[in-house]
Amino acid sequence: MHDDPVLQVAPDTLPTLSAWAQKIAPTPLQIALASAAKPSVLSLALGLPDPTLLPHVAISEAARRVALSNRSALQYSIPHLPLKEHIRTLLMEKGVECPLECIFLTQGAQQALNLLSVLLLNKRSLIVEEKFSYPGFQSLTSSFSPEVLTVSTSARDGIDVDALEILLSRSSRPPALIYVMPNAHNPLGVTMSIEKRIRLASLAREFKVPLIEDDPYGELFYDERIPPIRSIESQWVYYVGTFSKLLGPSLRVGWIVAPEKHVEALSVIKENCDLNIMTYPQCIVNEYLDTNDLTLHLAHLRSSYKERRAAMNCALSDHMPSGVKWHVPSGGIFFWIDLPDGLDATALLIKCLEEQNVAFLPSQAFSRGNAKSGMRLNFSHPTPDQLVDGVRRVGTVLNSLLQ
Ligand SMILES: Cc1ncc(COP(=O)(O)O)c(C=O)c1O
Repeated sequence: MHDDPVLQVAPDTLPTLSAWAQKIAPTPLQIALASAAKPSVLSLALGLPDPTLLPHVAISEAARRVALSNRSALQYSIPHLPLKEHIRTLLMEKGVECPLECIFLTQGAQQALNLLSVLLLNKRSLIVEEKFSYPGFQSLTSSFSPEVLTVSTSARDGIDVDALEILLSRSSRPPALIYVMPNAHNPLGVTMSIEKRIRLASLAREFKVPLIEDDPYGELFYDERIPPIRSIESQWVYYVGTFSKLLGPSLRVGWIVAPEKHVEALSVIKENCDLNIMTYPQCIVNEYLDTNDLTLHLAHLRSSYKERRAAMNCALSDHMPSGVKWHVPSGGIFFWIDLPDGLDATALLIKCLEEQNVAFLPSQAFSRGNAKSGMRLNFSHPTPDQLVDGVRRVGTVLNSLLQ
């Protein structure tokens, strides 16, 4: 026992959290996801790449070479310039021309979105997103308590640009940003047509609204490849890319293409987060790109995922009851399924877990809790046999419900 005076605090008293943090609570979705993580559950829920398709050997060799030959790889240091050169080449292949000064390296696309939200948003800013959108973006922006305007998206060719134009022209104040995923939208799987990309670019310019183009699935196209919006408009578009789905998400290497004038502000925001210390994975990815044929690797990824897309499409045709609709995605790793009106996808998920040990993500996860009748199925992580079995199990529950 020491004699120092100790402040007496009631045992249940804890620090007061920010107003936003006080509202954080486990959602039904998180509870469902926790059950989906059980080994007995066949999961079509998460957006994971197939680990057997990631280049383990080449990455481990690159990691070893970097660690042995480059002492500053473990040091605090500035972003790795040679990697930016590689990224610029990748971008040029898609039709995006930009100087190295516009490329800003991040810890994956998620951090890129986080940094951009700090760059562009104020408390209660107005943001425009699609009715179904990426939950990681919705969650990170919620700390700004934004006013959210939503625009619907056609499963055929992407966001409704006419509705967006009306929304922008009637808005009482200018939105702080528009967030879109033109390639293989998560969760809808749809790829935006070139006509809509051109309209979007001109709307961003005309209404002077920054547009975030989030593109984690741009290399996973199975039909045609369409140039990014950033290739059409450079001043109002912030393009976000990542190696997560291509080389491995745990490398945490992504980037933003931003107007050069904003890169300095981004680097201060990033320094506040992590002091720019991701040098080692940046060097590993650079070494991998120096010594391997990325084009060959991507072709292999695309052909493997394309086969799984076909397997899932067949399984859906075989097992889904009538009234259930889907489009075959032209890229990415998800099918979006429209359920008959009135069917609650979260309730369906709970039934699927209880009765068939199979998981998917329900539409509530992508619509800030609002839309009920849709589900997202992943086809990159399960094997072809598993995904056919998973669709069969979901079909069994749906058939029994809709009888
Ligand atoms: C649309 C979208 N944006 C961003 C991310 C985050 O990617 P990263 O692993 O590079 O942070 C994901 C991950 O699945 C995603 O689907």
